[in-house]
Formats: sequence, structure tokens, C-alpha cells
Amino acid sequence: MIKKLKPCISGYGLYTLLTPLVMIGEVGMEVLIPYVMSLIVNNGIEGDGGTAYTVKMGLLMVGMAIVSLIFGSLGAYFSSKASMGFSKNLRSKLFNKVQDFSFKNVDHFSTASLVTRLTTDVTMVQNSFMMLIKMAFRSPVMLIGALIMAVRVKPDLSLVFLVSVPVLALSMTFIMTKAHPRFRLMLDRYDKMNSDVQENLIGIRAVKAFVREDNEKKKFSMGAEAVRKAQISAEKLVILTSPIMQMTMYATIVAVLWFGGKMVIGEDMQIGDLSAFVTYINQILMSLMMLSMIFMMLVISRASVSRIVEVLDEQPDITDENASQREVYDGSVEFKNVTFGYNDTAEEAVLKNIDLKIASGETIGIIGATGSAKTTLVSLIPRLYDTSEGEVLVGGANVKSYKLEKLRDAVSVVLQKNVLFSGTIKENLRWGDKNATDEQIEDACKSACADEFISGFPDGYETDLGQGGVNVSGGQKQRLCIARALLKKPKIIILDDSTSAVDTATDASIRKAFREKLGDTTTIIIAQRISSVRDCDRIIVLEDGRIDGIGTHEELLASNAVYREVYDSQQKGDED
Ligand SMILES: Nc1ncnc2c1ncn2[C@@H]1O[C@H](COP(=O)(O)OP(=O)(O)OP(=O)(O)O)[C@@H](O)[C@H]1O
Ligand SMILES: [Mg+2]
Repeated sequence: MIKKLKPCISGYGLYTLLTPLVMIGEVGMEVLIPYVMSLIVNNGIEGDGGTAYTVKMGLLMVGMAIVSLIFGSLGAYFSSKASMGFSKNLRSKLFNKVQDFSFKNVDHFSTASLVTRLTTDVTMVQNSFMMLIKMAFRSPVMLIGALIMAVRVKPDLSLVFLVSVPVLALSMTFIMTKAHPRFRLMLDRYDKMNSDVQENLIGIRAVKAFVREDNEKKKFSMGAEAVRKAQISAEKLVILTSPIMQMTMYATIVAVLWFGGKMVIGEDMQIGDLSAFVTYINQILMSLMMLSMIFMMLVISRASVSRIVEVLDEQPDITDENASQREVYDGSVEFKNVTFGYNDTAEEAVLKNIDLKIASGETIGIIGATGSAKTTLVSLIPRLYDTSEGEVLVGGANVKSYKLEKLRDAVSVVLQKNVLFSGTIKENLRWGDKNATDEQIEDACKSACADEFISGFPDGYETDLGQGGVNVSGGQKQRLCIARALLKKPKIIILDDSTSAVDTATDASIRKAFREKLGDTTTIIIAQRISSVRDCDRIIVLEDGRIDGIGTHEELLASNAVYREVYDSQQKGDED
């Protein structure tokens, strides 16, 4: 698992290496200072060293304290640099990975969970990385250093550690093993709460429209309460560490003062050694506690690391590694016995045994009830999903044989759930063609009947859209999306219910512009209204994932019951 994260240190390796080194320097000073102190007491004050000796050693001690301070500050600086660089690399790596994901990969994790993994989880790992490089060497060195010094000062008094160190180590291990599952639970609940928040914010309009605020508040407070409970249950154990640590420490100090005091009285030990010894007790037990904290931090972040590695390990299921750089020859499309399901476990496929041939330049309409798999059918053409069985051909070749970029440049889709991004109208349209001239942009907008409302805005094409394109109406957004797709000058253009929010007159003029300007572009129009597709060369009637009929408007009226029914109901609706 850790191996996967190692490359993220790149560029910050020096800081990662320097941190433990300077921390060890700091510890060295910290361990030696009590020793110098004991020399001052023993020789300078008690002994016959005199003032000169005391001052000399005092200055040495100040010098060591300054060096220790410098090392400590450098450690903080290096570790911050290293951990922040590490997390930047890790985030970029994750983000780049997600960019390669297919729709199916994203469905697998859910958008909310991916956001949590890129933010909270990375921060969690960043913190423990920092703790690790700062403390993982510092604490053991301090533990061993202080132990050695203590034994040097007074071997027989050090026997107290044979009792206190195992007591502390055992109780810390016990607490940490008990706390681990509780922290796991806390993280899972935290994840659930995060996804509730994200879902709510993404769908805030629907929440307001259906006056669901109270339910959402209740749902959120339940989630927050669950996090609180899990957190308390985990922390309850952790707070035990402090009293246990203090008790052990004071008990040890009492024991040392008791035995050490007797030794001093019996002139078997010097008073300076006793005071140094007490400081070493402090250092030894503190570093033991630090070690247990590091251990805990690792335990907590292990959950985050595994969630991150899951994303890094996910295989993008649509790749074009072995594809050729060949351009798409023309706008013909063919489905050969295609069957497709969104997941392999589903009992029934969404699309079943589709055979279909569309000639280049043809205009095709697709009609069918909601859920009849219209969107699914067309998303196989630009390879947004791969077929489960059978193959899809574009320009006479299997879609898998093209580089994705070439294929998707040739097949332009206006998705049913389309989005615009923050930025100006012009910037958004340039997604279609980043080198488009102003004339080309205006021309595309004319075909999509978007120029009329854009020129009505005070800033025209420079109007800022706000995040997710909130500043335009549903119908205006659809027309901008059509214009954006047209700018690609594709060989195949697919409009998935893209004029549903546009009035019938505008819908008709968009179709007219399409007919006049896109003569040799294959056009596939999915629509709910018969009027949107009745002029198409052929219309496909989809029913429950199967092709129920193909033909012109007149042919289908004569031969297809489903089509006639839809037609009749819409005619009636018009007459009412
Ligand atoms: N991402 C997905 N994951 C799993 N199942 C899906 C997914 N998208 C669609 N489905 C299922 O596939 C079936 C066909 O959906 P599809 O979106 O193709 O229908 P549609 O004909 O476009 O409907 P509409 O007219 O409402 O847009 C539905 O039963 C739906 O539940
Ligand atoms: Mg659809």
C-alpha cells in the first residue's frame, strides 16, 4: 500500500530525508542537556569546580539549548515543506487518475466519495506523513538515548524502568488495539455525512423546490450525531492515555526519589545525578507515549490510505492504448448484435441484441418511453461505455480501434444531463474548438438559435456563466450546449433530448438550420416529441432496450403500434 504512495515524495525527497536528521539532532541535545546540568550540580555547586566551572558549563548548556532550538525549528520547516509537497503530488496524481476514468469507473465510486478521497483523506494522510517523518525517528532515538544516559548515571536506579516501561507499553498497546475499530467506524460515518452534504449541495435546487429542507436537516443532524457518537467512543479510550501516562510517570518519580534519596543520604549517589535522572524518566515515558501516538495516527490514516489506493488501483475500463491514430473516415454507424448492461451482475441487460446500420449523412430520430435505453444506445457511439457483447462501428471500424480523442472529436454528443462550466460564454463554447474564430462561434450559435439571447445580454459573448452555468435558463443552456457541440465540426452529432426545454418554434428553426448547414453530418436526434423527429430520414422506435421499429414517419404510422400510440396521444394533446 505504502509503495503506491512513495512516488509522491518526488521533488520533496530532500526535505523528507532532512527532517528526521535534524530531529535526531534536536533529541541529541535534549538528552545531553540534563547530563551537563548534573555536572554543574555535582562539580560546580556541590563539588570543588567553583564559579568558573559553573559559568563555563552554564554557557555550554545555553549553547546546546540554542542548537536544539534551531534543529527543532528546521525540523518543523522541513517537515511542513515535505508533507505539503507530498500531498500536492498525491492530489494531482489522484485527480489525473480520475480524469482517465470512464463513466463506469466514476459510477463505481460515486462522485461524492471521490471528492472526499481527494480532500479529507489526502489531508489525513498528509498529517500522518508529517508526524511520521518528524517523530518516527525522534521518539525511538530519545527513548534509547535517555535510557542509555539513565543507566550511565545510575545503573541500579534504572531498574525501576523494568517495571514502569512495560506497564506503560502494555497499557498503550491495549488502548490502541481497542481504539482502532472505533476509528474505522468514525471514518465510515464521516464519509457518509460528507456524501450527504455533497448530495444536498449539488441538488439544492430540488431540495428547495420540494421543500425538503426539514428532512435534509434531520438527515444531516442524524449523520452528524452518528459521527459524534463514534468519535466519542474512540476518543474515550484515547483520553485514558494521559492519566495512565501521568500516573506511571509520577509513580516512577516517587520510586526514584525514594530509592535515590536514600542513596544520596547514604552518599552512594550525587544530588545532580538524581535531578538528571528525574528528567530522563520524563523523556523516556514521553517518548513512549509519542510512539503510541504515532502508532495511533498510522492506524487512523490506514483507512484513508487504503481508500486512496483503491482509486489509484482502479483500472480505467475504457482505454485506447492499442488504438491507431487513424481519423474517423465518415459518419456511418453500425451496431452488430450489441448487448449492454451497466453492471455485470444485473440479471437483465439494458440493451438487447441491437442490429442497426446508419449511413453517413443520414438524419436519424430516436423515440421511446423513458427508460427504454435511448441514452444508453447513443452513449456507445462515442465509447462513453463499452458494449458487453457485439461491436459498434463508426466510419466502418470498431470504436475500440480509434484513439479516444479522435473518436470523440468526430462524434459530438449533447448529453441529456449537460453542464456548462464557470467562465464566459465564449470560453465555454471554445471547449468545442479552442481555436474557433469569433465568426465561427457566432455561426454555431446561429445554427443553435442561441445568438438571439446571447446578443440580448449586456456583455454578449463575454457574459460570465457562474459555476455550472447557473446564469442561463434551461433552454438557453441547451442551445449553448448544441452550439458547443457544433463547433467541433463533427462527423456525427448526437442530440440527446437537447431541445426538450426549448419551445417548438425554436426547436423547428434549430432543425432547419441543421438541415441546411449539416448536410453531410450524421445527425441523431433523441426526442420525446414526434414533431422533433418526424422529418428525419428514418426514425427508430426503442421499446425496453430493443428496436421495435425503424422507418420514416409515414411508414411507422402505418406499421408500428407504439409509434402510432405516441403520435395519437401527442396529437390529442395538441388539440386539447
Ligand atoms: N449509470 C447507470 N447505471 C446503472 N443503470 C443505469 C445507468 N443509467 C441508466 N441506467 C438504467 O438503464 C436503463 C435505460 O436508461 P436510459 O438512460 O438509457 O433511458 P432513456 O431511454 O434515455 O430514458 P429517458 O427518456 O428518461 O432519458 C434504465 O432502466 C436505467 O435505470
Ligand atoms: Mg435518456
